[in-house]
Order: sequence, then C-alpha cells, then structure tokens
Amino acid sequence: MVKFEQVKGFLFDLDGVIANTSAYHAKAWHQLADELGVTWTEDLGNQLKGVGRMDSLNLILKYGGKENDYTEDEKVKYAAEKNDNYLKLLDTLDKSEILPGMEDFIKEISDQHYLISLASSSKNSPLVLEKLGLAQYFDEKVDPATLKHGKPDPEIYTRAAEVLKLKPEECIGLEDASAGVKSINGSGAISVGIGDPKVLSEADINFNNTSEVTLQNIAKAMDKKKVLDR
Ligand code: G6P
Ligand code: MG
Repeated sequence: MVKFEQVKGFLFDLDGVIANTSAYHAKAWHQLADELGVTWTEDLGNQLKGVGRMDSLNLILKYGGKENDYTEDEKVKYAAEKNDNYLKLLDTLDKSEILPGMEDFIKEISDQHYLISLASSSKNSPLVLEKLGLAQYFDEKVDPATLKHGKPDPEIYTRAAEVLKLKPEECIGLEDASAGVKSINGSGAISVGIGDPKVLSEADINFNNTSEVTLQNIAKAMDKKKVLDR
C-alpha cells in the first residue's frame, strides 16, 4: 500500500457514507419487496447496498425465487415505483441528515487541497448532494448512467480516480457496502469500509462509524497497516 503522504484524492460513495439515505433506499425497497411477496431480511438489505436500481430489483426477485416471473417492462415499472417512493422520502432531506463528522471531514480534505470525486451508483446523487449543501466540495462526479458495470465491478472507482486525473493508487475510496469495497479494491485504490467490520472484512481500513473518519485516523491506520504488511 502507498504511504499516506502519497495520497492525492478521495473517492466518495454517498448513500450510507455521507448521509443516512441508504436507510431510505432500504425502506423503499422493503416496501416493494412486500408488494412482490419477497420476505425482507437484513441479509437482503446488505446485499442491495451500493447496487444500482435494476440490479437491486433483480437481486430481490432472485432472493424470492421470482426471477422469471416478470417481463422487462414490468420490472421497469416496479423500479420506477421504488424510485417514486424513494424521492418522496427525500422531500424533507437537508443538512441535518449528513452523517456524524462527515461535513467536517469533507471540509478538512477540501481545505488541505485533496481532490474529491463522487462514486455513487445513484442517479439521484446530484439531487441528494445539493439538498445536503455539499455539492460545492466535489471537483468531479461520475455519472452512473455512463457506466457499463455496477459495483462490485471496479469501473466506477477507476473512473472516479480518472476524472480527477489521478491514479487509483493515489486515492482513498470510502464505502459502507461490501459491493463497494470490492469495487474500490478492484480499482487499486485504498479502501476504507465504514460500518460492521464483519460485513466489510475486505476493506484495507475499517471504521465502525463515520465519526471515526478523520485524516489523522486514516494516516494512523495506513501507518499501522504498512507495518503489518511488511
Ligand atoms: C446507491 C445505493 C443503492 C441504490 C443505488 C441506485 O448505490 O446504495 O441502495 O439502489 O445507489 O440508486 P438510484 O437512486 O439510482 O435508484
Ligand atoms: Mg453506500
């Protein structure tokens, strides 16, 4: 792994890393799973984290053994219904739903002139960033509609580094989802997993929650890891 001093950029997931919007995605998917007669479990919720809209619907149908029950047109209709319900939940979204410490962290890295890009699979991410009042900190955003493959494929994190004109190795990616950590690792960037370390065991660095995410803690964890890797 590179030294902390060699890091030049940060690649951010959004839902579940910057704001608590992953809970809203889960709520809207849970609602649709009920409608489709698929039993909602925590495991299914974890599998959906970080996964794009149609891939999420396909995962839910597969989980319920219903993968062949619907036409493509019907699936498009259900995915749109989920998105309408998600957008309703976003109606009242504001700064107060930024996860603890994340606004300070983003300001800190911006003040220190690190480059910052967004690597969210969500087509709603520009709206969410605006509502949170954080859009101005992002130098670049990857548009998920331009990608061939969703997370866990590395494409989104490879692109998130590229749009900053950096090598993935010079970047740190932050994720709350197992699929996202896999995507960061595949790109060659350093992965920070935020949340249950058992679910995110593949991350280079683990934090239990967003309050622990500071430049100082990242530097400390990278130093420790270098010693362990030796
Ligand atoms: C993020 C979330 C997922 C969501 C996906 C697509 O990665 O973690 O829960 O399904 O984005 O979001 P969208 O807003 O485009 O439906
Ligand atoms: Mg996420």
